[in-house]
Amino acid sequence: MDRIAITGGAQLNGVIPVSGAKNSAIKLMAASLLTDEPLRLTNMPRLADTRFLGKLLTRLGVSVTESDGPDGQQTILHAPEITSGFAPYDLVRQMRASFNVLGPLVARSGQAKVSLPGGCTIGARPVDLHLQALEALGAKIDLHEGYVYAQAPRGLKGAEIVFPIVSVGATEHAMLAAVLADGVTVIRNAACEPELVDLQECLNAMGAKVEGAGTPTVTITGVARLKGATHSVIPDRIEMGTYAVAAAMAGGEVRLTNARPELIESLSVKLEEAGATVVRTEDGVIVKRNGSRLNAVDIETAPFPGFATDLQAQFMALMTTANGESHIRETIFENRFMHAPELMRLGADISVHGGEARVRGVAQLEGAEVMATDLRASVSLVIAGLVARGETVVSRIYHLDRGFERLEEKLGACGAQVRRIKGDGEPEL
Ligand code: UD1
Repeated sequence: MDRIAITGGAQLNGVIPVSGAKNSAIKLMAASLLTDEPLRLTNMPRLADTRFLGKLLTRLGVSVTESDGPDGQQTILHAPEITSGFAPYDLVRQMRASFNVLGPLVARSGQAKVSLPGGCTIGARPVDLHLQALEALGAKIDLHEGYVYAQAPRGLKGAEIVFPIVSVGATEHAMLAAVLADGVTVIRNAACEPELVDLQECLNAMGAKVEGAGTPTVTITGVARLKGATHSVIPDRIEMGTYAVAAAMAGGEVRLTNARPELIESLSVKLEEAGATVVRTEDGVIVKRNGSRLNAVDIETAPFPGFATDLQAQFMALMTTANGESHIRETIFENRFMHAPELMRLGADISVHGGEARVRGVAQLEGAEVMATDLRASVSLVIAGLVARGETVVSRIYHLDRGFERLEEKLGACGAQVRRIKGDGEPEL
């Protein structure tokens, strides 16, 4: 399998265009199941995760065509009819968000059989809230042998859905199902992430009536059918934040474009507190650090607009060489510090106690062989490698390929010494 080698020490200087958001793109792709007309998504990232979902959607009857359109990378998804309501384990297991096809399938064709996704390295990640939402909308749900059987032969019915905790995926899933329900659905304690607003905009362009996304209450007035539309995927705030941290780590000056500064404001504030300069621009941010060592600052992850859990690993990498001691609290997922022991292989001084990590900054990291454990953790190792003395080799980078488009190219264009070592196809032990 491929690995990535980074030779530390180079500053980053240049421009990095931010891609469309993976986490949004995969929910928007699922929306194509709701209409018999084509959905054209522009600003589409090309990632392993979008490919996985494309494969699953194709099995369900959607034609998925990727091309370079007049406005950049696009994917056209067209489901004249749903030819199968079955999402097998081998496809859902590869990417949890595939589970979000369940709601649209039931909404459009009255039934579906979708594999439970199972846990993942960052925690148990149950789907009880997703199922609670679909049941509230009138679907009959049965669980057998690892599969969810959902039925609503006479269609879904609008309802009040009150989530006991905030879940991005469950809120999106409820929206995707309720747009074709009969009557009004009100989702309370909804997640407020920008990707929800993006989904609302896309669904409304398709003829849905959704309002309130981005606030804790989302109201959906069901419609009988949806039509085709063109929608541009929101910029990837996690990719943007990752390169902002990389620039602060390596030093230099990086301009992030094709994005929006408010998407990473909670991170920008922390970068400034640590001593980096962040200039908000019309289409992104400029991050600069010239010479001086950063100061340790504390973070606590929280739902948007709080500090994103998907940027926690990257920020921990940044703190490994800061001056002083930083406390990093993870409140969203219960097991999201697997990057800590890998960063310690590079010489970082980190101790983890439950949901909190204490990072004491060291003067210099040393290159080593490390292993990616999940998507965001893997990029934190690349960030650490940017300043480690000598060479850092990150293995199991299929995690990285799930969510970062052309990472070596984007960092390399700014002067980083990053190269991909092609594997021999053999799985790593
Ligand atoms: C999404 C993002 C992920 C991000 C996360 C939090 C995608 C593809 N992934 O994941 O990158 O880190 O939001 O911003 O968009 N929970 C339950 N029951 C459920 C659903 C969730 O207990 O039915 C719990 C989870 O275990 C977790 C918390 O709720 O502790 C929040 O998870 P959720 O917001 O649902 O995350 P995802 O949508 O899976």
